[in-house]
This record gives sequence, C-alpha cells and structure tokens, in this order.
Amino acid sequence: MATLFFENTEEEVELPDNSSIAEACEEAGVPFACTEGVCGTCVIEVKEGQLSPMTKEEEDFLGTGSHCERLACQCRILKGRVRISF
Ligand code: FES
Repeated sequence: MATLFFENTEEEVELPDNSSIAEACEEAGVPFACTEGVCGTCVIEVKEGQLSPMTKEEEDFLGTGSHCERLACQCRILKGRVRISF
C-alpha cells in the first residue's frame, strides 16, 4: 500500500501500489475538469516522494523542466508516502 498525504487538509489516504490518485484527489478537494491532461485544472505540487513518470500530456502542459508540478488526473502513486499540495 502507498500513502497519499494532502498538505492542505492534512488528510492521509492509503491506496494500492501503482493506482491512480485522481479519485482520492477529487475527494480531498482537488478540482478536475477534462480528466485527460489537457486543461491544467488539476495541477498539484509534489512536496515529498515520487509519483509515476510524467505522461506525454503532462510534458505538453507543464514542460519537461518542472517535476514538482503534476496533473493529478494523469498520475499514479507507485509506493511509499507522497506528500502533495493543491
Ligand atoms: S483535469 Fe484537466 S488536466 Fe487534469
């Protein structure tokens, strides 16, 4: 199991390894719109830990330089603890 910690709300959610974080983020209050990596509504900031590698959609939207910002609709949590804010 992996742990997703939301800095804003200090909520912690346990998720299976390698699962999508979209639903947990939506429940925690991250706004979503397109859910396809196009609009940028679901931008989160990774403060600690690591999510799945950037998708093509994320690279197109965020560029390849910034790996702190991610699109929550595109990310999977791999394992361990990941701390994010939104
Ligand atoms: S909801 Fe549009 S990029 Fe994630």
